[in-house]
Amino acid sequence: MGSMIQIRSLIKRFGTHEALKGLSFEVPKGQVVGFLGPNGAGKTTTMRILAGYSQPTSGTARVADIDVTQDTVGARRLIGYLPESNPLYDEMMVVDFLRFTAEVRGVAIDQRTARIKRAVERCGLGQVLGKDINQLSKGYRQRVGLAQAILHDPDLLILDEPTSGLDPNQIVEIRSLIKELGQEKTVILSTHILSEVQSTCSRVLIINEGRLVADDTPEQLQNAEGGSVSVVLGSRKGDKLDPAAVKAALAAVPGVTGADAAEGEGEGTLGFKLRFGNEDPRRSLFEAAVKNDWVLLQVERVHVSLEETFRKLTSVEKRAA
Ligand SMILES: Nc1ncnc2c1ncn2[C@@H]1O[C@H](COP(=O)(O)OP(=O)(O)O)[C@@H](O)[C@H]1O
Ligand SMILES: [Mg+2]
Repeated sequence: MGSMIQIRSLIKRFGTHEALKGLSFEVPKGQVVGFLGPNGAGKTTTMRILAGYSQPTSGTARVADIDVTQDTVGARRLIGYLPESNPLYDEMMVVDFLRFTAEVRGVAIDQRTARIKRAVERCGLGQVLGKDINQLSKGYRQRVGLAQAILHDPDLLILDEPTSGLDPNQIVEIRSLIKELGQEKTVILSTHILSEVQSTCSRVLIINEGRLVADDTPEQLQNAEGGSVSVVLGSRKGDKLDPAAVKAALAAVPGVTGADAAEGEGEGTLGFKLRFGNEDPRRSLFEAAVKNDWVLLQVERVHVSLEETFRKLTSVEKRAA
């Protein structure tokens, strides 16, 4: 079975500016993927190409094995697309807009009413069907945008910044709606907000300046740089501990890649910050404590935040390195 999305060596130039610099990734059927990157990274450009609204300079974009530039109509049948600014026909009533969209999408006449009904139910639009779109709140506008995206029951949803400009309550609503849709569809959603992907996505692709810089689960990304353990210990017998000796013993604990002195908890205690890579050293730490007659007064795993990882992956310093 092919992937739902297959992007290969995608390059997009606007004049002399290269917005995508050979982007490649695949998304299997059923995955909910966060497409993350700072403003100007190339998210919208990629999604427009994928949805068949823009031609790549070179490289290919396939949806369920269909090359979107070769068979744009065929590919679009499988795609529901919520563009970045969610352009809607402001003067239209919601119900008319959905009818019009169903017609344009080629939904068969005898299926239109049922499809519209289903999209309206899923997106919670029952109350506003008779309103003009320009009377709607931003949250409801997004719901209408999602409803038009799912009208023809596509397998793949391409959502470009679906929660941008919404207030916190609306964000929660739209997120849970996306989560629901993600149970039956493949979803790729772009955002420049990290917390967005943590709750909704099982995989995160991070792009920066038209290149993929990370591809991982939110959890793995969070741990990508390893982490640290904050430790406070004392002597079990109450003797005075030699800081240098303790530091050396801690540095030798399996998994630990570095030990730095930190704040203790007063008289007779020593504090350290232990760094580690792939292996969490806490189990070995307890064994070392038994062996050395230490009392562990505090052992706390400190996570590198996803924000920190993101910043590192997309910062100027990183690129210069
Ligand atoms: N139509 C266009 N003409 C010229 N430059 C563009 C056009 N669309 C996008 N760009 C440029 O391409 C880069 C990527 O833009 P975009 O894909 O919109 O980024 P993102 O969605 O990640 O914020 C930016 O530098 C942007 O200025
Ligand atoms: Mg964008």
